[in-house]
Amino acid sequence: MNPTIERLYAARDALARWQASPPPVAIATGSGYAWLVEQLEGARSIAFGDIPNMPLCRNPKHPGRFVLGTLFGHRVIVQHGRLHCYEGHRAEDVAFPARALALWGVKTFLLTNAAGAINPSFREGEFMAITDHINFIGQNPLTGLAFTEIGERFPDLSKLYDPDLVAGVQARIGARGTVLHEGVYGAMPGPSYETPAEIRMLRLLGADAVGMSTVPEAIALGQLMRRVFALSCLTNLAAGTALTPIRDDEIADVLERPEVRIDLETIIRGVLDAL
Ligand code: HPA
Repeated sequence: MNPTIERLYAARDALARWQASPPPVAIATGSGYAWLVEQLEGARSIAFGDIPNMPLCRNPKHPGRFVLGTLFGHRVIVQHGRLHCYEGHRAEDVAFPARALALWGVKTFLLTNAAGAINPSFREGEFMAITDHINFIGQNPLTGLAFTEIGERFPDLSKLYDPDLVAGVQARIGARGTVLHEGVYGAMPGPSYETPAEIRMLRLLGADAVGMSTVPEAIALGQLMRRVFALSCLTNLAAGTALTPIRDDEIADVLERPEVRIDLETIIRGVLDAL
């Protein structure tokens, strides 16, 4: 058997011993979304270090744990702590937590991130549902031995970001006045922010927003035929269009704004209610 699958099965078995029945939905928290964990009722957590083979987070702000609980009336598991290729992780390791959750039995994934707005009609503090991506990270989590035990060697990604789920969310949030843009996510390797020339290139190629995450997990989940809803908070205007330099601490501040939190809560409720 492919050794990666054996490692995944060991992680899956540990999750099943911890909690026999998986929740229907998992939420991966990107930068600035840790606040979601505090919203969970009846929370129980398991550290990545207590699950065999789980790659450990290299970001001190992301401790690396799964937290199970109830969010807005729905049972969910939150992945608190994300791995990124720019930290030196391979795409396969970045996707490991999502794959382990999927093999345990989670069917739907909400992947959150912070992104720079490229589309000139988008404003800082608004949200975008990812409808497609362009992968410039330069890695793919399916690289290596085939995973034919769990999915196809050459999976089709034309509906990777579930269009029905996006439509279902739009139908639920419209009445509440929350704007949810839809668009293409340009995934860049980072960790430096892009140059203005790179942003002009991405815009020319059809990207509406730019970030450094999400795509490795989404591709792995697409292979496993899971439903994916990916949400970008547009925390800044992309390089070259912003009047001031892009700063990591200011990106986190955007997600702290009360009006942004309200929109985020509305969209996440929309996703959970649309399932
Ligand atoms: N570029 C890449 N990643 C990001 C950005 C950006 O402008 N903003 C938040 N994450």
